[in-house]
Parts: sequence; C-alpha cells; structure tokens
Amino acid sequence: MKILSVVGARPNFMKVAPILSAIQECNERVRATAPTRPDPAHSEEIQHVLVHTGQHYDQAMSDSFFTDLGLPQPDVHLGVGSGSHAAQTAEIMKRFEEVLLRERPDVVIVVGDVNSTLGCALVTAKISFDANGTRPLIAHVEAGLRSFDRTMPEEYNRLLTDHLSDLLFVTEESGLRNLKAEGIPEGKVFFVGNTMIDSLLAFRDRADESPILSDLGLRGPSRNGARNRAQPYALLTLHRPSNVDDAEAFQNILEGLSPLSRQMEIIFPVHPRTRKRIQEFALERHFQMSPNGDQKGIRLIHPLGYLDFLSLMKNAGLVLTDSGGIQEETSCLRVPCVTLRETTERPVTVTHGPNVVAGISVEGIGKAIVRQMSRKARTRLPRKWDGRAAQRIVQVLANAVREPRA
Ligand code: UD1
Repeated sequence: MKILSVVGARPNFMKVAPILSAIQECNERVRATAPTRPDPAHSEEIQHVLVHTGQHYDQAMSDSFFTDLGLPQPDVHLGVGSGSHAAQTAEIMKRFEEVLLRERPDVVIVVGDVNSTLGCALVTAKISFDANGTRPLIAHVEAGLRSFDRTMPEEYNRLLTDHLSDLLFVTEESGLRNLKAEGIPEGKVFFVGNTMIDSLLAFRDRADESPILSDLGLRGPSRNGARNRAQPYALLTLHRPSNVDDAEAFQNILEGLSPLSRQMEIIFPVHPRTRKRIQEFALERHFQMSPNGDQKGIRLIHPLGYLDFLSLMKNAGLVLTDSGGIQEETSCLRVPCVTLRETTERPVTVTHGPNVVAGISVEGIGKAIVRQMSRKARTRLPRKWDGRAAQRIVQVLANAVREPRA
C-alpha cells in the first residue's frame, strides 16, 4: 500500500507528523512478524511519500517545523510559494498532478483547510490512472469543521475538500453533525480525534527545554536546577485577512487589547502578512518594537518554531488569537483563550475548553479578556483527544485499501 501525504502551510506540519509516526510503527510491527518477507512489492508495509507544496516557504514558517517535529525532508517539493488564491491554488494543482501520475499512490492524505488541502484533493478527485478511472482514495484529516462564515477562504476549502473526499476523519462531534446535515454518507466518516493534539501531547514535555522564556526575559535563569516561574504575560497571534488586511478592524483589535497591555506584556510573534500590514497602515505606535524595561505593552517578535511557541503557550496567563489550531491547543493545555473572531469552526473549545469567542469590537474584546482573567470554570478534554488519532487513521486507511471499492 502506498500513501501520499500533502503538507503546505504552517498548521499542516503538526497534523501530518503523527500520521508518519503511526505508519512507521505499523511497518515495524509488520517487519517484526515477517522478518524475511522476500518480495517488497507484496509486503504489507506502507510506502509513504511526503509532498510539500511550498505554500509556506520561510525558515520560520516551514523548515523550523520539520526540525522541531522530527519530520523527514519532503520527498517532493513543489515550490509553489505565494500568490492570489487563484494563482496559488492553480499552481499547486498543475504541479501536484504530475507528481500524482508519477507516484500513483493508493491514498492521498490532505489535512486542514488551507489552499494546498483543496488544490490537491481536487486534482486527486479528477485524476485517472487507467481506462477504468482508477484513482487514489482521498482522506481528509480534520473534516467536518464549519464556521458557517463564507467570507473566510478556509470555509470553502473545508466544504469542498469534504465533498471530494472518500474518507473523512473528524476531530470533534460538531463535525459529525455538520457532515450529516450536508448529506455525506455516514460510512465515509470516522470520528478519530485530533492529530494536532497527538503532536501536542507528544511534544508537550520537550517544549520545556526551549530557551524562549529566558531569551525573551520572561523568566530569570534557573537556580540549583529549579526553574523560576515565568512572570505573567499574554500571547497574541493575528493573521486572518479579515482582521489584518482591513485597517479599521486591525485598529479596533489593538484598541481592545490596550487595557490588557497596560497590565501585562503581550508577546506577539508576527506572521509575515501581518508585519506588512503594520507598516502599510502605520500602526507601529501600538507596539514596543524592542523591550522597554517596564515589561508592558505589545512586544512584536519574529514567527516562532513549534517548540518555542508551545512553551510560550503553556506558560501564558492568557492567549489571544484568530487561529483555529491555537484554540484547540490552548483547550488541551487548559490555558484561557480569547478568540478574536466572530465565529469558531471548533465549538468544542468553547463547550469543553477554556475558549471564548470575543468578536472584534473594542467592547467585545475588553469584556472577554476580563472574563477570562478571572476564569474559574473547570474544563474537560474533548472526546478522543488522547494522542491516538493518527493510529486510528492509519488503521482505517489500511482496511479501506484492502476492501474493494463500492
Ligand atoms: C495560510 C492559510 C490559513 C492558515 C495560515 C497559517 C489559506 C487560504 N490560508 O494563510 O488558513 O491559517 O496559512 O499561517 O491557505 N508569506 C511569507 N512567507 C511564507 C508564507 C507566506 O512571507 O513562508 C507571506 C506572503 O507575503 C504571502 C502571505 O504571507 O503572500 C500570505 O501567505 P498565504 O500562504 O497566502 O496565506 P496565509 O495568510 O499564511
């Protein structure tokens, strides 16, 4: 059996890493039970091909994640880079089609909701290896999430990828309901848990080795081997076009954060898109561009790798974000989160986790921060967020490839 997995943008890497580990474990089991299997073509081992579309390409947005997560170098790099949605998706599709025809895998795995996810799913759905129309199965990891906000490009990517897919792997129960409501047959849908959380649980302790807290002056040097507690700080991420490409929306958010920034320092690792907008809209006055000694204000820093960011998230008093994945990660870490958006496609982070959807008005953000700073409510881990989602996925894939297709 041959599986091809696609990664493209920053949030894809931690979703695919555990699947690669689960495939490796599966192969080790096969080898252990049949050490002298003669013919690799008939082996039960899973061959794997990792394709990177190159949607994200900076060291900080891509390479550092490969290092931190111990991912192997991609077998194929499409080198697509940035562009308009149409240009980027079209380029991904053109280059991916050639790879698919050459590799002819049994399964293509796409994850999440970025342009690479949809582009590669669409190519796979229309490819034909022979006169019978043979093509790989399409497996979508993180299926069924819906914000019901069609101004988000990701909402189209989610909807369309799900409707193209043969196997839909769902992270939370809302996904099951959404797919049912859209008429996706139940037999295609598997509630397996969350591979992003598999990575988080696998790397949570290793993140403590990151020097980022001392590098940022948030924690003094350890004495006699005992670590000092970090001083209180909040952590901010912002990169959604609806928040940062619109000067008024961006300005509102910064005003909403202003009272908090007078109480504690807000650390803000800045996405390249956001950095450009700060310059374009002349918003520099809202930030301390370098530490000012009194440790208040919003401090801009460069984008961080996986382990550094995880360390900052674990130790933060509060996380403020417009990312989807960070809502899930803070839920697992039980760190209060304020989501700077009007909707979430991940409602379990609100019903079970410590997340509040604040909107982007100055008042909404202010209220949500006050509520979260005095939060006492206990939170529960969502069902199946137990670190074993990838193993369940690989098991389903192995069964699906063995079964004749309907
Ligand atoms: C993409 C995803 C979004 C995800 C986000 C995580 C889509 C539609 N959007 O948004 O869902 O939450 O990634 O970061 O797929 N750039 C660089 N270096 C890079 C990559 C991008 O400088 O390595 C700059 C370029 O100017 C580019 C801009 O960032 O034009 C936006 O990149 P793009 O991949 O188009 O979308 P993201 O905003 O990163």
